[in-house]
Amino acid sequence: MKRLVIEGGNSLSGSIKINGAKNAALPIMAGALLGDSTSILENIPYISDVENLGKIIKSFGVEVEWKENGQLIINPHNINHFEAPYQLVRKIRASNLLIGPLLAKYGVAEIPLPGGCAIGTRPMDLHLKGFEALGATVTMEHGIIKVKADKLEGASIYLDFPSVGATENIMMAATLAEGITTIENVAKEPEIVDLANYLNALGAKVKGAGTDVIKITGVSQLHGVNHSVIPDRIEAGTYILMGAICCDDLRVENIIPKHLEALILKLREAGIEIEEGEDWIRIQRSELFKAIDIKTLPYSGFPTDLQPQIMTLMAVAQGTSIITENIFENRFMHVDELKRMGANIKVEGCCAIIEGEKMLKGASVHATDLRAGAALVMAALAAEGETYLSGVEYIERGYQSMIEKLVALGAKIKCIEGSEG
Ligand code: UD1
Repeated sequence: MKRLVIEGGNSLSGSIKINGAKNAALPIMAGALLGDSTSILENIPYISDVENLGKIIKSFGVEVEWKENGQLIINPHNINHFEAPYQLVRKIRASNLLIGPLLAKYGVAEIPLPGGCAIGTRPMDLHLKGFEALGATVTMEHGIIKVKADKLEGASIYLDFPSVGATENIMMAATLAEGITTIENVAKEPEIVDLANYLNALGAKVKGAGTDVIKITGVSQLHGVNHSVIPDRIEAGTYILMGAICCDDLRVENIIPKHLEALILKLREAGIEIEEGEDWIRIQRSELFKAIDIKTLPYSGFPTDLQPQIMTLMAVAQGTSIITENIFENRFMHVDELKRMGANIKVEGCCAIIEGEKMLKGASVHATDLRAGAALVMAALAAEGETYLSGVEYIERGYQSMIEKLVALGAKIKCIEGSEG
């Protein structure tokens, strides 16, 4: 078992360059299957979720080629297989995003129920209802979702919740459907807008991405293009929060600060100073900052993917904060791990009540999911003494070279094999 040994209490400084967004790269890779020719995707992060989705796509007969500097070439002209392999699908929830493109282009998709981080039950009912509304039949056999259609026809669809994945999947399916599809109460995340921009470059007619309603006019054919994905606002937010807790001076670069507005404003509310430029943010550790309340919400609300990290910050804030998790019902698994490090947190339903402590202390802890892993690295950097962190593979799902980036700032982190701490 691979583990990290993190020596806390060192002050970090320097600059960090943010990679392309995981949550934009994954749907766009799936969307590349809609084209008749090659897409050249730029700014694709080299992380295990992307690597695994690439392997699944390859198993369909698609040519997938990695180039230097985050370039990924996808040539879908040879698709000859429509069933994704379970061993890969169980590692990554975003494999469900392959259903929309395969259904639209080939009228069939067979995907085992997807895996990914265990942060709730994460059903797919909204995706499937959308496909049915477009004229597909959906069945489930031996844990495999089978979606089929002779022809897809535009429809009016209302999402009971603005699900990111359902918005993307239905949007992709509708690009090649006959007629007009309207999807109401859609997700408005920047990654949805990036996907819509990519689909429009392929030749699709998608309007309204970034608002509550998306309208898609079906076309008969799509082609490949070059597209560069947006920077990862969650990776950026994670380092900004690390900056607030343990950096003398940190500049987070290659970002779109507008995508981080909720985080920036909440940090300012806590009394933490942040400087913003066109594509960078500068942050310095504050000795004293006050506890604030946080509610996770769909974009442009505070992102659930930064909830574990801001909880770590609140664990050493002055006063009591309440964090309400409104997106996932089981996203407090990091609480017990933070408590091992001396955090004072009580969970009541979807709320966590955090009494700020002066200092966290190193301990043996386990990352239970991707963002929990990032939150524990952050806690370990700020803590007194050494932390042994297992579950490192979760971090590798979503953060390219996190350890190397932190070591370059002065962090003392070693990777070891073995289970004793
Ligand atoms: C995406 C992101 C993930 C982020 C999440 C919320 C990707 C690859 N992942 O995940 O990092 O944490 O958005 O911002 O982009 N739901 C249903 N039925 C459905 C679909 C979703 O009830 O058919 C529920 C989920 O259980 C959850 C909520 O809706 O409670 C939000 O899920 P959703 O927005 O779909 O998240 P993902 O697309 O899985």
